[in-house]
Amino acid sequence: MTAYDIPAGPKISPARMTWKFLRDRAGTIPAFHEEFGDTFSLRILPGPRTLVVFSDPADIKEIFAADPSQFHAGKGNEILKPVMGEHSVLLTDDGEHQRARKLLMPAFSGASMRAYQPLVEAIAKVEVDSWHDGDTLVSLDRMNAITLDVILQVVFGVTDESRLAVLRPKVNRMVNIDAKMLLAWSYPKLFVLPPWRGYFKNQQEVDKLLYAEIAERRAAHDLDGRDDVLSRLLRVGDPSTGSGTGDSDEPLTDAEMRDQLVTLLLAGHETTASALSWTLHELGRNPEVHAQAVTAADTGDDAYLEACLKESMRLHPIIDFVARTLQSDQVVAGRRLPRGTTVTPSIMLSHSRESNFADSHLFKPERFVGEKIAANTWIPFGGGVRRCIGAAFSLMEGTVVLREVLQRYEVTADAVAPNKLRNITNVPADKAPIRLTARAV
Ligand code: HEM
Repeated sequence: MTAYDIPAGPKISPARMTWKFLRDRAGTIPAFHEEFGDTFSLRILPGPRTLVVFSDPADIKEIFAADPSQFHAGKGNEILKPVMGEHSVLLTDDGEHQRARKLLMPAFSGASMRAYQPLVEAIAKVEVDSWHDGDTLVSLDRMNAITLDVILQVVFGVTDESRLAVLRPKVNRMVNIDAKMLLAWSYPKLFVLPPWRGYFKNQQEVDKLLYAEIAERRAAHDLDGRDDVLSRLLRVGDPSTGSGTGDSDEPLTDAEMRDQLVTLLLAGHETTASALSWTLHELGRNPEVHAQAVTAADTGDDAYLEACLKESMRLHPIIDFVARTLQSDQVVAGRRLPRGTTVTPSIMLSHSRESNFADSHLFKPERFVGEKIAANTWIPFGGGVRRCIGAAFSLMEGTVVLREVLQRYEVTADAVAPNKLRNITNVPADKAPIRLTARAV
């Protein structure tokens, strides 16, 4: 018989543990860390199955570097399959995941980022133009409006105003994946009943529009001159454009393209909006940092604005853990764990660890200026072969938006906004209201 070495953890029924894990990780995970140390286990449903939480940077490094064929990530996100689709890069593993990632990566290169920047600037300007001196803004809503338009225009490449007007409300409805909708995905029969019927119909309408957009773009003669993610994805692997991945990968089919577009929408829209909203909130509460950020916006010091975003993502992890499920018995951090165990590097614990970040409860963007942050300590985008594809995109987008806001307005905010888990992201529960004061120009 094989002896396993599963770390200790709370003696709570799996049903209660699952509820706590889904509803209040910000409260429970640090408390378990305090009680059980850097590595502990939880029993959660369905199954119940064992989840082992890790927070030591050396252990996290080992998990990120582990063999992806034995440390699967896709399965853990399966609940999103009915909306993202079976080909989604987020949901697949092994060869299919590798192929999707390879075909997606060129659209997220440094050169691609520079090409997207002017359109992101234009979108942010339109939003900031609609603000007024003395306004109190619900920053999460306003940032969601910007990041949605960035996905529609910069990722999908839809810039025609009449098409945007049709897509915006439909896509907005599609991204609202609450617990009720997730339930229907486990019990598809519910989709014939309202409100699930309406959600499903809306999703079919969005799919129809996306397929039409893909077909139109495939037929377009100006594809080479277009700077949006979809056009770049269509060029990748197309022998006629010579912009393949360098080997014999077949280009993405229409169905694969649809699934990747919806994945980019769901992975990239609310996450970036939440990061921006927390950043504005922190700037609004930290006058000294705010003053430095305003100077940075005026002088084009993007590195400081990016540092503000990074520090805000550290203090308020948008996604607070990542997961890999073992496909065979494995030794992880010196412990023998059985097949089926889910190992989870905790982003939340990593970011609040004093040995990783001194005064970890404080908002100090200067940590990210010049100084090198130790590997596997700042991990808001996960790591290894599954690291977020949109990391550079969201930092570029966030920096541009902060610059556009701070060149025109000073922002102030009140008390700490508590954390709330919404859909798949941590957001400020009060949507982080900020007050605007127009700057003298
Ligand atoms: C602040 C913004 C964002 C945060 C905090 C974030 C965070 C994450 C995290 C934690 C993962 C899982 C990584 C892992 O398992 O190791 C992930 C995966 C992913 N993200 Fe992001 N993300 C953000 C923005 C974006 C954007 C803007 C896009 C695209 C436009 C995007 C696309 C993806 C994709 C496609 C994956 C799946 C990668 C794979 O499985 O190979 N994300 N993201």
